[in-house]
Amino acid sequence: MNKELKIGLAGFGVVGQGLYDVLQKSPALNAQVLKICVKNKKERSLPEDMFCYSPKELIENEEINLIVELISDADEAYTIVTEALKSGKNVVSANKKMIAENLAELIELQKEHDVSLLYEASACGSIPVIRNLEEYYDNDLLLSVTGILNGSSNYILSKIFDHNKGYDEALKEAQDLGFAEANPSFDVDGFDSLFKLVILTAHSFGTVVSPEDVLHYGISNISDFDIRYAKEKGYKLKLVGQVEKLEEDKISLFVLPRLVMKDKYIYNVEDEFNGVVIQGLAYDKQFMFGKGAGGHPTGSAVLSDITAIAHDYKYEYKKKNYYQKLSYEQTGEIEIYLRYKNDADLTQFKFKSISEEYSSVDCNYKIGLIKIKDLLAIKDQLRAMDIFIAVTRKTLNY
Ligand code: HSE
Repeated sequence: MNKELKIGLAGFGVVGQGLYDVLQKSPALNAQVLKICVKNKKERSLPEDMFCYSPKELIENEEINLIVELISDADEAYTIVTEALKSGKNVVSANKKMIAENLAELIELQKEHDVSLLYEASACGSIPVIRNLEEYYDNDLLLSVTGILNGSSNYILSKIFDHNKGYDEALKEAQDLGFAEANPSFDVDGFDSLFKLVILTAHSFGTVVSPEDVLHYGISNISDFDIRYAKEKGYKLKLVGQVEKLEEDKISLFVLPRLVMKDKYIYNVEDEFNGVVIQGLAYDKQFMFGKGAGGHPTGSAVLSDITAIAHDYKYEYKKKNYYQKLSYEQTGEIEIYLRYKNDADLTQFKFKSISEEYSSVDCNYKIGLIKIKDLLAIKDQLRAMDIFIAVTRKTLNY
């Protein structure tokens, strides 16, 4: 049944306004925004009495039967979402950091209070990847999910590679267009992709992994040397997250830049678009593509969750509840390109073998095999080093 929804909206930034616009284009949905909670008073496009300044006013308003949380602060989002669930209200959220860091508790709260928390907009913007993993890929065939999960870093890489723009200029554009997070380090250092990957992992394989335990590295240290290297060899550089089922009931996951050849689906994913390759037994590969950032695309995913709530939809966490348990263990090896300046940095990397190397006064690189576990052990030091890392084509499995 399409039940009547009275929405309390927390946040009226890029996505909040995007949602408000797309809701106006959806008359068939019996939903209305009753109140919007924002931080500060200022001139806005809607009447002043639509706004309030404390989330409590949304949660305690008995007319409101759905809270839509679209703010960027993960701690405040946690309070709003958990309080709302505890008060018996359904919730739609797009806050990937908050969801990824608290997923186990959020799953329990839904069960305990018999409410629904949906978060399609938290991963890959307008691409309906979570609901598909939950509903269509609800069998044992799934082997891996690999993709460009962050629109801002992809936008920057596209502008650098295809339009010869500088990194700072491209980042500024991504910010001006409303793609980047309030703290853009989230985008360019791989945190945003990491949170999304953790969420996709729970719906792909049922394993709830703490983001702190996962290897992630982004594009903020990319240099002209790296771009020239990639171009000369016919690659593009993309920031890619991947979760893969291994033998012996284990999964592996990480976020790293990759050197990508033309023959890969994600080679042509440009600008703020995201692309997700789903690999499994019997069907081999499938590819989902769409806008991964921006107010209206992300608002459309929130709208879809609101519609789902109107039809009493809940995630069943099928993989977690009904399938064989898979544990996260970072085994395996990858081949990486490591550009470095100082030997002191190089010594941190325990290469098992080297297949290519280059040395000059300004810059050196090595390409070689390394255990992912050994990279994971130094993940918190990587950003401070004068280096850049990218997975090479040789070890790409998607
Ligand atoms: N900052 C995010 C991105 C927004 O660029 O992908 C969408 O999650």
